[in-house]
Amino acid sequence: MATQNILLLPGDGIGPEVMAEVRRVLAVIEARGVLSLSIDEGLVGGAAYDAHGVAVSDGDVEKAKAADAVLLGAVGGPKWDGVPYEHRPEAGLLRLRKDLELFANLRPAICYPALADSSALKRELVDGLDLMIVRELTGGVYFGEPKEITDLPNGQKRAVDTQVYETYEIERIAKVAFELARVRGGRVTSAEKRNVMKSGLLWNQVVTAIHKSGGYEDVKLDHMLADALGMQLVRAPKEFDVIVTDNLFGDILSDVASMLTGSLGMLPSASLGAEDENGRRKSLYEPVHGSAPDIAGKGIANPLAMIASLAMALKYSLGKPDVADLLDKAISETLGEGLRTGDIWSEGMTKVGTTEMGSAVAKKFEALL
Ligand code: NAI
Ligand code: MG
Repeated sequence: MATQNILLLPGDGIGPEVMAEVRRVLAVIEARGVLSLSIDEGLVGGAAYDAHGVAVSDGDVEKAKAADAVLLGAVGGPKWDGVPYEHRPEAGLLRLRKDLELFANLRPAICYPALADSSALKRELVDGLDLMIVRELTGGVYFGEPKEITDLPNGQKRAVDTQVYETYEIERIAKVAFELARVRGGRVTSAEKRNVMKSGLLWNQVVTAIHKSGGYEDVKLDHMLADALGMQLVRAPKEFDVIVTDNLFGDILSDVASMLTGSLGMLPSASLGAEDENGRRKSLYEPVHGSAPDIAGKGIANPLAMIASLAMALKYSLGKPDVADLLDKAISETLGEGLRTGDIWSEGMTKVGTTEMGSAVAKKFEALL
């Protein structure tokens, strides 16, 4: 069995607390011989600044590049409000995303049956929801040139942002979406505005072409206009499997999708990069939530988003989709038994801390393996 290299970057605030629970699950994976792991740990964010005076060290960036999967807790907090701008905790995360060329941002919206009542939508619309938004992260209108505000002769101002996409950028994100669909529900919906945007027209054409020429015809492909998809996402979210879209639409649609599920402490994410010469993708997995300074150090943080991020790593980088499903099942069953951290607690449920929740999931996972 090939050894998989995992780099843990716990970061700041509740990051180290939720990462400790990931370590517990990794220990089960090793003990049961599921994978042979080499686990390393590094520093990012304020923790790295305190130790090295930078938000991530060159050495840790190199380790991240060499890893099969990087797991990151969270960065930031009021303690580092006064540090120089280029060394602020977020700079560590931004540098990792840039140096690893993480162009594909994966944001699943998963609604565990036990939590379906905390969604803003009716239970029957979201119960069992499991969709994935694949957002292009390094191109589009956030980066296109020209990007400026100019003065007009009549005293008014003129602002310009430019949406630019080239074929290769659309091809590589479409490939990620098709490959994900294969280990999920087998369906991709591509969203753009080809009716009013040239970049939308090219997006549509390139996705269609790659579907054929890339050998992805086993995956079902649909195209939708992004605004229509927005409506459908709220009307019938369970109709979707993988949604692939550009940077701007993806930013908005992924935030909408995450709110369908109810709780921030439950949501994982992944950012994927280009394939290397061995066909391996660089990857970074992290919860959607931040460092939660208001509850850090109290032992009450919800570790489930971090553990679900490990499940994503097992599925998409470590070649163990079946084990990932068991870990997701362990999370779901633990919730089904009524265990709740404070952020998802409701009347009649059993309130537990970070360690108790992590231990319960690890134990269930071990029993399911
Ligand atoms: P946050 O996500 O850290 O917290 C928002 C609220 O949700 C807080 O009340 C917090 O206690 C709660 N919460 C978040 N995660 C939780 C969990 N796992 N269990 C229980 N409750 C949880 O966002 P906020 O407060 O806006 O930012 C705090 C710090 O985190 C800032 O320094 C911010 O820059 C940073 N941040 C970092 C991110 C990252 O590392 N990717 C993402 C978002 C924010
Ligand atoms: Mg956003």
